[in-house]
Amino acid sequence: MGRLLALTFTYLAYMLAIAIASERQQHRVQHGPCSYTFILPEVEHCHPLKDFQVTNILQRDSPPEAEPDTSQTKESKAQKERPSWQERKLQSLESAMENNTQWLQKLENFINENVRSGVEEIKRTAVHTQTAAMLEMGTNLLSQSAEQTRKLTDVETQVLNQTSRLEIQLLEYSLFTNRLEKHILLQTQEISRLSDKNSFLEQRLLTLEGRYGRELKGLQSEKQQLQELLERQSQLVSQLQHELGSSSLNSTLLQRQQAMLTDTVQQLLAVANHCNEISNMPKEEPLSFRDCAEILRSGVKESGIYSIRLHNSTQTVKVFCDMKTRGGGWTVIQHRRNGSVDFHRGWRDYKTGFGESSGEHWLGNDIIHELTSSQDYSLHVQLRDREGNEAYSHYDHFYIDGEDKNYSLHAEGFSGTAGRTSSLSHAGSQFSTKDRDNDRCTCKCAQLASGGWWFDACGPSNLNGIYYPASSSVVRYNSIKWYYWKGPNVIATMTTMMVRPANF
Ligand SMILES: *[C@@H]1O[C@H](CO)[C@@H](O)[C@H](O)[C@H]1NC(C)=O
Ligand SMILES: *[C@@H]1O[C@H](CO)[C@@H](O)[C@H](O)[C@H]1NC(C)=O
Ligand SMILES: *[C@@H]1O[C@H](CO)[C@@H](O)[C@H](O)[C@H]1NC(C)=O
Ligand SMILES: *[C@@H]1O[C@H](CO)[C@@H](O)[C@H](O)[C@H]1NC(C)=O
Ligand SMILES: *[C@@H]1O[C@H](CO)[C@@H](O)[C@H](O)[C@H]1NC(C)=O
Ligand SMILES: *[C@@H]1O[C@H](CO)[C@@H](O)[C@H](O)[C@H]1NC(C)=O
Repeated sequence: MGRLLALTFTYLAYMLAIAIASERQQHRVQHGPCSYTFILPEVEHCHPLKDFQVTNILQRDSPPEAEPDTSQTKESKAQKERPSWQERKLQSLESAMENNTQWLQKLENFINENVRSGVEEIKRTAVHTQTAAMLEMGTNLLSQSAEQTRKLTDVETQVLNQTSRLEIQLLEYSLFTNRLEKHILLQTQEISRLSDKNSFLEQRLLTLEGRYGRELKGLQSEKQQLQELLERQSQLVSQLQHELGSSSLNSTLLQRQQAMLTDTVQQLLAVANHCNEISNMPKEEPLSFRDCAEILRSGVKESGIYSIRLHNSTQTVKVFCDMKTRGGGWTVIQHRRNGSVDFHRGWRDYKTGFGESSGEHWLGNDIIHELTSSQDYSLHVQLRDREGNEAYSHYDHFYIDGEDKNYSLHAEGFSGTAGRTSSLSHAGSQFSTKDRDNDRCTCKCAQLASGGWWFDACGPSNLNGIYYPASSSVVRYNSIKWYYWKGPNVIATMTTMMVRPANF
């Protein structure tokens, strides 16, 4: 390449020398940023050069000078001097010229080629480097964008996290609020209920106050009446004292009369005894049995109806005596069997008794009281259900008070098979009927449960309830009841209450 270039320059210098000395026929060669112009010799006006030599002078294009005028004149002079040499010279120059031209063309081609390939290479390398740079930049950008994306994602997740946390908090708050609301609602309801109750209580208090006020007034008036009564009584007492004083004088007289009468009576009795002994009349049956136990002891072993005379009384009473059960001697005070007798009766009926001793009956509260208060009695309650099962409840000690205490019940020492717990009410329960309510219920047990009984509130038993003969699973509140035997469902078809001295 270097040699080629040197050669080229040599040639160019030579051509330039020629061109300077010849007419202006210019060839231009572009090499990179520089352009070179060659002035080639023209054949017609060519002068033979005396001392032609190739100088190694490279000359830049320069504006035309005035010199060529002189050289032209010189050339024309030489032409005139050597015409034959000129012709030869011309030929050789022409071939050289030809060669040069060809060579030049080749050179040009070569240069062109080289330049083009160089340029292309430069372009290619430039493109490569640019592409590489671009790629690098691209990768940089990509990595940067990836980084950014990652950061963005982080931020996003954080934001999401925060949002979700906030949402959860919000949810919790709303839940809490709901709960509070509910609580408040409940409280409000409670408050309203309480205020309702309060107003109700106030009303009740007012009515009670009114009632008590009225009662107080009534009591005051009663007190006044009592005071008046007291005054009258005291007057009466003083009057009576007066009378007593006068009558005490008379009493001695009366005593004397009485003594005389007693003497007379004793004499009469002696006479009568004498008469009895003489006539030897048959002894009368002494109707002085106090109860069935005494009748049994007297030798009677048959169950049936017998007369007894109550203690302190001349009244005789027909009673049914059970001489079989647990040794016999039982005086029956109540009996149910087939529902033929109505037991839903008033106070008077229960006081005096009703029904026939041979069938269903109630002996009478007065009689039961007389009987059971004269000595210590035990009570035996005999029951039978629909299937014929029998059971009993036994009380070692039993009595009832008089009417002044509303025939209050006293039963102790419970035992038996009709329930492990006593079905009779507490000791002291008063007797109630449909027309006399002495129970401890605000209701009227005798009307609810029917019959007459020692209802408590209204208690677990009532053997004087309604007799339901038909079998039924319906729980009837007013039926015959002995709760702790078999509960509310089982209705007894037979009941007997009977008493016997406790020491029998
Ligand atoms: C022209 O070139 C040829 C070969 O390339 C050479 O033989 C010949 O002598 C040259 N002519 C001149 C006048 O230089
Ligand atoms: C949300 O943030 C909390 C605390 O800032 C952190 O404990 C928890 O792991 C995060 N959860 C998620 C899904 O990023
Ligand atoms: C004694 O009794 C009689 C008749 O009962 C009566 O008339 C008389 O006044 C009485 N005597 C006195 C002192 O009270
Ligand atoms: C029964 O007789 C006794 C005395 O034996 C007597 O104390 C009692 O008051 C009498 N009771 C009645 C109800 O008459
Ligand atoms: C109930 O029993 C009594 C006594 O045995 C009897 O006289 C009466 O006819 C019976 N009544 C009914 C409805 O069975
Ligand atoms: C008995 O009952 C009547 C009303 O039924 C009642 O006025 C009276 O106070 C009662 N007697 C007793 C001692 O409770």
